[in-house]
Amino acid sequence: MSLQKGFMPKLIIDNIAVEVAEGVTVLEAAQSVGIHIPHFCWHPALGKAGACRVCAVKMVDGPVKGIQMSCMLPAQDGMVVSTTDQEAMAMRRQVIEWLMINHPHDCPVCDEGGECQLQDYTIAGGHGLRSYTGKKRTHINQYLGPHIEHEMNRCIQCYRCVRFYQEFAGGTDFGVMGSAGRIYYGRVEGGQLESPFSGNLVDICPTGVFTDKTARFRARYWDYDMAPSVCPHCSLGCNTVPAARYRELLKIVARRNDAVNGWFICDKGRFTNSVVNDPARPRYPLVDGRKVGWDEALDNLLLRIREFGAVHGPESLAIVGSSRLAMEAATLLYRLFAGIAAGSLCYFTLEEEADQARAAITHLNDATSASMGDVQEADLIALVDCDLLQDGPMMALAVRQAWRKGAKIFLVENDVAPEAQKGLPFEWQSVSLLSDIPIREARKPVIICGRGKGMQDVAPALTSGVKLAYLLGGPNAFGAALLSAGHGATTLAQAVASGKVKGILAVEVDIPPELLQGISFIAALDWRATAIVKAAHIVLPTTAWVEMDGTYINNEGRAQRFKKVMHPGLPIMGLDPAGHPPRRHETAPPGGEPRPAWQVVADIIERTGTERDVQPLSGQWQWLRHLDAESPGQRIWQNMKQVK
Ligand code: FES
Repeated sequence: MSLQKGFMPKLIIDNIAVEVAEGVTVLEAAQSVGIHIPHFCWHPALGKAGACRVCAVKMVDGPVKGIQMSCMLPAQDGMVVSTTDQEAMAMRRQVIEWLMINHPHDCPVCDEGGECQLQDYTIAGGHGLRSYTGKKRTHINQYLGPHIEHEMNRCIQCYRCVRFYQEFAGGTDFGVMGSAGRIYYGRVEGGQLESPFSGNLVDICPTGVFTDKTARFRARYWDYDMAPSVCPHCSLGCNTVPAARYRELLKIVARRNDAVNGWFICDKGRFTNSVVNDPARPRYPLVDGRKVGWDEALDNLLLRIREFGAVHGPESLAIVGSSRLAMEAATLLYRLFAGIAAGSLCYFTLEEEADQARAAITHLNDATSASMGDVQEADLIALVDCDLLQDGPMMALAVRQAWRKGAKIFLVENDVAPEAQKGLPFEWQSVSLLSDIPIREARKPVIICGRGKGMQDVAPALTSGVKLAYLLGGPNAFGAALLSAGHGATTLAQAVASGKVKGILAVEVDIPPELLQGISFIAALDWRATAIVKAAHIVLPTTAWVEMDGTYINNEGRAQRFKKVMHPGLPIMGLDPAGHPPRRHETAPPGGEPRPAWQVVADIIERTGTERDVQPLSGQWQWLRHLDAESPGQRIWQNMKQVK
């Protein structure tokens, strides 16, 4: 039968009529109506390989007959498929038994145990006893760096790892060697994996060949506290699931969002748990280095602010937030600024970061803003002043997917150091100017702007149909820029240059030492042990993003909510040098004093007497309260008519 454009094959799977788009496989067609067919080598992001043979189904009638691999077979009109046919089930059972001939029975000591596809299908298929009595094939494992544990004996040769690492992510230091029954996935020589996306091997392996070494032997799947979250380590807003146990963040895995990160995350987002578990984190309110209760700290803060105002004038105080502050607290900063009649309100410290975020909110709207999903579909991409692997690694992965489909990539020669281009997983053509790129000839062109002067060249290149993406300075830089513009805020650098600032109330912000010259009073709200926290007269500890609910607006203007994963508190393993929990009963966890930044800011506002019962996200931001953390997020333009 000749298939015309727009043709939708109709088939029957387990007595359910299914209609799917042309090119969809039988396995995907079954999934579309909720029928699950076992699979190892097929993956939604990688497609089919036909390697594992566990997706067998029986084609009962129609153009194809007999036992077939459902991941390899395109759905065709008139097919009648059975996934429960005895012959198909026997085939799947036998495949599992063959795979288990060499797979070690080591689930009790395997970190994948409890979240292992092979374990699930083995049990589901009824293979409880093995009849094979011979010796199992064994391999020697490799050291793959500090993050990933290698256990080749568990391999079922599905090729997912190498397909991801080489084809999807462009890595060249890891591959498949050997043949037949001696296939080996690894490096030519042991050593740290070079790809900045190597951690995805942990998620993509359907069994325990690659596991997260940083969480090794620490918990089982059911032990973890988990919740949908958003990565805070750059502005792209990749979706994650952090997993914690006993107040310690143990690991982070990717969460699917097709418009943002797809199925994957970068290693920076996956392996940066230590900032949350850092023993040096501020855990208690401090006044002049003395541990105090919250009431005393807040009273003291208000007293100091009044004394400071009496000496220097209240206008000498600057309220300083940052792009790492979630919207809940960021939207309260103006009310704090008004409540204590401070002189400067800053959402950015340095001009460069503020300029870049300002450019993003000026040029982006629902039509022009490119998501990473849009980048993957582009046919021409111009990179302007980008250090992709530093400022947004997953954007580099998105550009690679477009390049694999034939997109032309241009790199405008600029101020970014040549080292920044090393390791980019795609080929490009260098040009001197943005105007040298044939943007008008492309059907789906995207310009990606990093930091630096090049972004000023972008405006003239904007014609209809061109989409733009910015790599901004923090997870909520876009939101901070909206608030900064809305409130007419300045940058700290500008406020300090005016010579007026003598005191700083710093809310989750890093401030370079040169901006602290001549500052006589510092109060700091933060969860990181930053230089400003160490220098502060008053420290109010806040919760990390995994310890609270919150909202970030990512680089494309997409608001995404994240949920609390764990209670704040000292990790049990860090409480005592001997690693033992406290030997006394307490109602609150030790080190559990940190509060969400919005709550601390609200407490300060209430103590000024200007407002009561201060709640975050009110007025034009109220819609953010109803965002579902499990949804793909919402772009701001659909909810805020007044935003361009
Ligand atoms: Fe079809 Fe592996 S999932 S052969």
